[in-house]
Amino acid sequence: MDRWDCYERAVQAPRETLALLLHEHGGAPLRLGEDFAGSAALARAWVASDARRSAIAVDLDAQALARAAGVERLQALVADARNVRHAPVDVLHAGNFSLGYLHSRRELLEYLRNAAARLCEGGVFACDTFGGASAFQLGGATRAHTLPDGALLTSIWRRRAADPRTARVENVLSFRIVRDGELVARLDDAFVYCWRLWSISELSDALVECGFELPRVRASTALDEPDDAPLGDDFAVLLCARVRR
Ligand SMILES: C[S@@+](CC[C@H](N)C(=O)[O-])C[C@H]1O[C@@H](n2cnc3c(N)ncnc32)[C@H](O)[C@@H]1O
Repeated sequence: MDRWDCYERAVQAPRETLALLLHEHGGAPLRLGEDFAGSAALARAWVASDARRSAIAVDLDAQALARAAGVERLQALVADARNVRHAPVDVLHAGNFSLGYLHSRRELLEYLRNAAARLCEGGVFACDTFGGASAFQLGGATRAHTLPDGALLTSIWRRRAADPRTARVENVLSFRIVRDGELVARLDDAFVYCWRLWSISELSDALVECGFELPRVRASTALDEPDDAPLGDDFAVLLCARVRR
């Protein structure tokens, strides 16, 4: 397994995200844009879910996007999501805290204005962020996942640096694989993220400024979750906003 295999197993749940996006759209969306797509796991799940569905996956990293090559009805674009152009999509998703790559408000607005222009009428944009009392505290969390062959994949998240004055954080993801009690793979610092941590209200304000309705803020993937569910000290949320047209 390479670092993207580990990442997909440990971090992503594309089918859950897909169900949530369909629910938030509320209609019968056929075209997805996946920005900051990495290995395009969501876009691959989207096209696999229905033969009428198509997707565009956008990332700066051609190597990561290689997993989308040759997948039917999936276009992989090596491009900057801030200024990419393509035919309008029904749903646009930027996952795993990717708006954190936009370090200034100017860059955030530039990206969101372009996102609004890439959606068709009634289209929905979704992005996530995290927060809570622990967001700027250094530390780590470990999670174990059993692989199909019985081996144990451990993902280790570390907040290596954080500065509440600038809202910049450096988060690192490492992996270990243990099979039959033996360490068979060790991927230290497999992914290093230098993000600006946008708050929910900063993102909401920016979305409205860039042509979206006030976003719905979802704290879990449960479709029947109430909008006012408490967020706690260490939360991740998905913001879903319909384009205003
Ligand atoms: C955290 S990964 C997200 C992977 C996946 N979307 C997910 O939900 O887990 C972020 C990706 O964003 C890409 N990226 C960073 N800045 C970008 C930009 N301006 N335009 C397009 N992709 C960018 C990186 O190459 C990286 O693959």
